[in-house]
Formats: sequence, structure tokens, C-alpha cells
Amino acid sequence: MPTIDERFARIGTDHAPGQEVRQALADDEMELRGGAISGTPVDFSHGDVNPTAFEPTPGALEELVAGVHRGSSQAYTEYRGDAGVRELMAERLAVFTGAPVSGADELIITPGTQGALFLALGAIVNAGDRVAIVRPDYFANRKLVEFLGGVVVPIEMDYLSRDAGAGLDLGRLEDAFKSGVKTFLFSNPNNPAGVVYEPEEIARIASLAMDHGVTVIVDQLYSRLLYTGNSYTHLRAAAIDSDLVVTIMGPSKTESLSGYRLGAAFGAARIIDRMEKLQAIVSLRAPGYSQAVLRTWFAEPDGWLEERIAAHQALRDDLLAVFAAVPGVRARSPQAGSYLFPRLPRLGVPLHHFVRALRVQAAVTVTPGIEFSPDRTDSIRLNFSQNHEAAVNAVRRIAEMVDRYRADDGDDGDDGAVLAGSHGSATAAGLA
Ligand SMILES: Cc1ncc(COP(=O)(O)O)c(C=O)c1O
Repeated sequence: MPTIDERFARIGTDHAPGQEVRQALADDEMELRGGAISGTPVDFSHGDVNPTAFEPTPGALEELVAGVHRGSSQAYTEYRGDAGVRELMAERLAVFTGAPVSGADELIITPGTQGALFLALGAIVNAGDRVAIVRPDYFANRKLVEFLGGVVVPIEMDYLSRDAGAGLDLGRLEDAFKSGVKTFLFSNPNNPAGVVYEPEEIARIASLAMDHGVTVIVDQLYSRLLYTGNSYTHLRAAAIDSDLVVTIMGPSKTESLSGYRLGAAFGAARIIDRMEKLQAIVSLRAPGYSQAVLRTWFAEPDGWLEERIAAHQALRDDLLAVFAAVPGVRARSPQAGSYLFPRLPRLGVPLHHFVRALRVQAAVTVTPGIEFSPDRTDSIRLNFSQNHEAAVNAVRRIAEMVDRYRADDGDDGDDGAVLAGSHGSATAAGLA
């Protein structure tokens, strides 16, 4: 059992998205190539919530204010969240995911999707338990397991060499389940790769979980931001015992409501019960007034979601087109979500050095790939939920920086292909 010191040593935040501002900008050891490249600073470590980029769902602020006016009843909800809001959520999430949800027993409102992840894992992981997680996947997944004293069992996902499905190594997943793994945690759509699991992959995960009695926590935070031509399979609606699945979502991303700190977990009542007990000692409840904002979730004005998806899809295509022109860059066209995870050609400097140089010289912040998988020392992640023009210009600056910092042995490290998703844009497909 790792000591508390060891556990904290494994969950550093130095390079985590949003923490870059705490790093010293200049590093005396770092040799910079060339001068500054001017342009509007862009922080791709998270989405931009702003009238010039993406604004929160209409009506969100009004619901918050109405919650404040309701006073005590909204400030002090049950630990699992306001009963009325839970009922609304349960109905809407059941329709969205295609399987029933009981607002009374099977749903908890949490402080962000992040809060839901911590509570769900905290409710089921014993110290010493083996927990399967995907590589690459959301950077916090590994840290959660390690903090709780679990043992990470990595399952590789070969997202780059295919243009449909996630590419999870299902054979490896089966071996892991056979070897005693009791919990499997994954995001779908995947952050950072933006890929969506195919129906066959979800069906196989469901049947393996059933065969081996594995509890699956699926983080579906980006499942509403699905691009044209893609379909989505909800694990909880597949052939799986509902007692083995907890689904996690929240309005932080597609809806740009991250600042309200809201999330929801729904599924196995035995786990939701424990999550409530844990929430009671962590934060008591999700922010009471914010909970009222969930009334806007899945009830946006007609056409709002379609417009939001179209705006992100246009961004995706324009950014991919810039990357496509850079020799040695490989990027798969995301099927959902707002992330690009390009693999760079071989650089003449370590990835952290390059990422820092990008900030110092080009005013562009990205997240190093190793946050998502220890072997992705060749990739960077961008959250492209940004002002369109500023994002395109910033990616042009990244392209210029890649050229400056590429290894000078002339080896691109790859064939330079940019893969379009199976339903990728005409632009990206044309460049494949
Ligand atoms: C896959 C995934 N899960 C959870 C979170 C946490 O989101 P929230 O702001 O809802 O806590 C993020 C944030 O980037 C994420 O990408």
C-alpha cells in the first residue's frame, strides 16, 4: 500500500491543463530557436467561454439567479441534489441514453463531471484493486486510481491507424478482466483523441463486463457534441446488467457551463448510494444555486445544439487542414468533442521544452501528450473550443514552431499522413 507521500507524488499537477500559468515562463536552460511569432494568445488547454468564442447555454444565468432567490431550499439540497432537478435530469438522461433512470435512486448531482469521477471511483476502488484504464484517456483517470491506492492496468487504444471506432485492444481488456480487474474506467468520446467507440466495441465491453462481473464507469462528457455522420452507442443501453454501469456526464463542455461546476452520475443504485455518502464528507452537495442551472440542460432553444456542433465542426476542419500541410504531423479527425491530438514529427528537443517554447515564443498553450499516456511524448492536445480566427492563426504558429524545432536529421518519424475520420470533412479527407 503506497504511503500518502507516494500517492501525492504520483498525482502532480505541474503540466495539467490550466496549470501552465503557474510555471515560470522562461527557463534559463532552454535554448529557443528563432524569435517571437506574434498573434492573439490562445490557450488550448481548455475551451474559451466568451462572447467571442462559445457562450454558456441561454438562460443559465437567469436560472442561477432564480435559484438564489429561492433561498434556503436551493442552497441546502439533499446531498445527492435537489429532488425536482434530479427528476427532470432523470427523464432527460433516460431519453438521451435510451435506458430508464430513476431520479430518486439512480442519479446524483455532483460538483462537475470531475466530482462524479472521484465519487464513483471512491465508491468502488479498494486499496490494492486492479483497475483498467485506457491509454490514452482523460489525464485524471490514472491519478484517481493511484490516489485511491489502486493498481492501474493500462489498455492500449490504437486510435491513429484507423478511421472508425476507438481501436481499444479488446483482447488485452479480456485478459485484464480474467486477471481479476473489477473496475473499468473509460471516456467515450475519448479525451484526448476525439474518437467514438463503435457499436461492436461497446457490445464487447458489455459482454466482457457481464462475463467477469466488472463494474464499468463510462465518462460520456462529450457525447452530445457528435459530428455529422457519426453515431453513438450508449453502454447503459447495451446488453449489460444495469447494476454494473455508472454513466457520467455534465454540462461543462458542449454547453460551456464549466464555471457552474455541475455534473451528474447515473446508474447502479448501490454505487450512487455510496457516492452520496462520500459527497457528504467531501463537499456536502454540488453548489446549490448552480444545481438550478441544470434545468436548462437538454432543454436548450431549438437549433442551439445543431449550431454549436456545426461551429465546432468547422473549427475542427480548418485546424486539421493547417496541420495536414505540416510534414510529419499525423492527426485523426475527431468524431466528437472538441479535442485534437496530433502526433508531431520527431523534434530536436524534449516535448516539455517544445510546449514551453510554444507559450514563450508563440503565445500558444497546449497540453503535452504524456498527460494522457506515458508513451505519447510525441503528441500535443488542443481543446479547439475557441474563437475561430484566433484558433486557426494559433495553429499556424504551432506549424511554424514545429518546423523550427523538428529534429535536424530530416526524419519525420512518420509518413506524414493526416487521417480523416470515416465521416471526416471533405477538407481533411482531401488531404488524407
Ligand atoms: C473526459 C473528461 N471528464 C471529466 C472532465 C471534468 O469536467 P468538469 O468540468 O465537468 O468537471 C473533463 C474536463 O476536461 C474531461 O475532459
